[in-house]
Amino acid sequence: MTKNYDLVVIGGGPAGYAAALYGSAAGLKVAIIEENKIGGTCLHVGCIPAKELLETASVLRSVRQAKDFGIETSQEPVVDLSISQNRKQTIIDQLFTGLNSLLAGREVTIYSGTGLLGPDRKIEIQQNGETEIIQGTNVLLATGSTPRTIQGFEIDGKTVMTSDEFLSIEETPDRVAVIGGGAIGCEFASLLNDLGSSVTLLESLDEILPGCDKDVSTAVRRSFIKKGIDIQTGVQVEGHEGDTEKTTVSWSDKGEANQREVDLIVVAVGRKPNGHAAGLQDTEVVVDEKGFIEVDEKLRTKEQGVWAAGDVINTPQLAHVGFAEGIFVVKEILGESPVVIDPSTVPWCIYCDPEVAFAGLTEESAKAAGYKVKISKHRYSGNGRAMIIGETEGLVKVIAETDESGKAGRILGVHMAGPLVTEQLGQAYLAVNLEATVDEVANHIQAHPTLSELFGETVMSLTGRSLHG
Ligand code: NAI
Repeated sequence: MTKNYDLVVIGGGPAGYAAALYGSAAGLKVAIIEENKIGGTCLHVGCIPAKELLETASVLRSVRQAKDFGIETSQEPVVDLSISQNRKQTIIDQLFTGLNSLLAGREVTIYSGTGLLGPDRKIEIQQNGETEIIQGTNVLLATGSTPRTIQGFEIDGKTVMTSDEFLSIEETPDRVAVIGGGAIGCEFASLLNDLGSSVTLLESLDEILPGCDKDVSTAVRRSFIKKGIDIQTGVQVEGHEGDTEKTTVSWSDKGEANQREVDLIVVAVGRKPNGHAAGLQDTEVVVDEKGFIEVDEKLRTKEQGVWAAGDVINTPQLAHVGFAEGIFVVKEILGESPVVIDPSTVPWCIYCDPEVAFAGLTEESAKAAGYKVKISKHRYSGNGRAMIIGETEGLVKVIAETDESGKAGRILGVHMAGPLVTEQLGQAYLAVNLEATVDEVANHIQAHPTLSELFGETVMSLTGRSLHG
């Protein structure tokens, strides 16, 4: 007899496991199907390993700075990347074990294998030549994404890698070309530069970090250049030639040919959705030409009772957006009419040095949307805590809507680059999403001395008065 579940989730990454955990907590009978490892890209080859390696870089910067604090280190610090890799794996293993016990504790049935959705929400699970069919009253497709590659840069895992291979490197390469100046490219360029590699960052657009506010991308660009990263924007990469040890990458810059010999090329040009990974034969589910599963604002596909969430749909490819979408689907199934997720106000955190964090509209997008805006920017150079920790680069920028009286009103966007901004975004995210005004936020006390005071100060200056400038 076919086993039946209230919810069958195909794909065990953040969107899928969040739906499974939240759904089972709400009393649904849930099954989750995963062909690889529960935890998905985020846990195994994405957020968690990348941030662990970036933390190694951060500790290294602190050690290098130690003498400013009167701490003598007798010699230049040396990084043994294999130790950091072991530490990374221990963290992944702990989280993986924890996740599996959480799912087991909530009586979620885990199926290992490939889940293929057919008509009537029946799913064939294939593993090692064996098949089993289960059925869901509801089905969530959460099959994720894989690194995009480009012609002329076939991945060999030696001189050409995507994030999948790069996150397991055991030694720091001397010379690296990173293709793509988005979130992954900037995190990797920053990490490699800190570890001592000579880094060339090749980006096809005119600025790195597309989608970020211009002041933020400029702050990161300046800081990267100061650290010695060679940033080449507006370029077209053409190919490379070499062996398994080293290779020469070629690109053109407004018609001018360039070449550089490197030991490693990291391709970070976006991720492509795994829209067809769950079969979908004889269903009404539509996959668009880019590979995204088409959904409406309630994350419903065209097939009755079938939903999709996470990287496989065309919303920001972020683990926490996947979590939110998984939870949203469960609430929809329960008939709770959850608030629709607005992709333009989700939080973004990028862990390069300086870090980047933002929520809401950029100055450009706010103006393009027809808002009249008031803007305030404050720099970390005047913030006491930033001086204490010795990291004074960067800024906070707040964009507010001009109200009827001509004063700054609702906060539309907050954009930060600087020390630990990924940990400061929380209140800015709430302000944007609760549609708070600058007056409302400025009434709240910021603890002193904190880095977050700069957000308070930036908002306060939009009220027409300020303390420090
Ligand atoms: P991305 O879409 O953020 O950036 C890719 C960059 O590559 C773009 O700037 C694009 O213009 C450039 N590019 C594309 N083709 C190129 C070519 N042929 N030559 C040179 N440049 C080219 O994608 P990324 O960085 O690979 O990240 C994938 C996804 O994962 C994104 O949605 C990203 O936001 C997310 N992510 C988020 C992180 C975070 O929030 N901390 C960290 C890592 C990834």
